[in-house]
Amino acid sequence: MATGTQPPASGTDPRRAGHGVRGATRAAIAPRHLRTDRWWLAPAGTAAGLLAFVVYSTWRAFSNSDYYAAPYVSPFYSPCLAENCVPMRHGPNWELFGGWWGLSPALLILVFPLGFRLTCYYYRKAYYRGFWASPPACAVAEPHTSYTGETRFPLVLQNLHRYFFYAAVLVGVVLTYDTVLTFRDEQYAWGHMGVGTLLFLVNIGLIWAYTLSCHSCRHIIGGRLRHFSKHPVRYRLWGWVGRLNQRHMQLAWASLISVAACDFYVYLLATGAFADPRLF
Ligand code: FES
Repeated sequence: MATGTQPPASGTDPRRAGHGVRGATRAAIAPRHLRTDRWWLAPAGTAAGLLAFVVYSTWRAFSNSDYYAAPYVSPFYSPCLAENCVPMRHGPNWELFGGWWGLSPALLILVFPLGFRLTCYYYRKAYYRGFWASPPACAVAEPHTSYTGETRFPLVLQNLHRYFFYAAVLVGVVLTYDTVLTFRDEQYAWGHMGVGTLLFLVNIGLIWAYTLSCHSCRHIIGGRLRHFSKHPVRYRLWGWVGRLNQRHMQLAWASLISVAACDFYVYLLATGAFADPRLF
């Protein structure tokens, strides 16, 4: 006999009934929401910020020029893997691919960091709200008539996030290498530092903080364990990653801005807008 504490039969469970049919679990109120604050501000700001980055990065990725000014290489073009990369005295020769049909070598590499960000849990929330209004904000009904979550193509591809995380770690290693190489001058002599070096240092710090604060990273380090007490090292690492994870949204934005700033700085140097001020 059913009691008040037992769940209803699956056919009448409102949580299940809500999948695929909008409104099955919503209160019967006529307005789309009862919020009186400026709830639209956050999704509108998010959409504007992401759109600005998409426009800027698309322009830079397709421009195929002005991405190297010794000793700096733009993070959008690193590692530069195509034969049509501009000559760089930048360590090992990365030219693994042919002419890439004259297309920008950035397109070869950007798929990995962009895939990482596109499938990031925070960015999903940001662009689902900002661009698709799904939902636009808490307690505001979405305009779509059905909800299938991330169970169907193309959104099921969001589950590739963990693999993009591994790729992002490799890209992070290369960008770290690039940052070390900025401790040279234009003639590639070591022991120098310019304003660009500072910019690259901040950027690589933010890139790693964002990458390591990833939810997938947190699960890789501390997930699937029965007893933390038997894995003290992983427990300690999990704690650190967890603290970073609390700032994941801020790190997502800060690293997005810093990577664009580094690219823009290299662009200005490469186009001769000014010379890199040397600190020593
Ligand atoms: Fe944001 Fe993994 S969840 S990078």
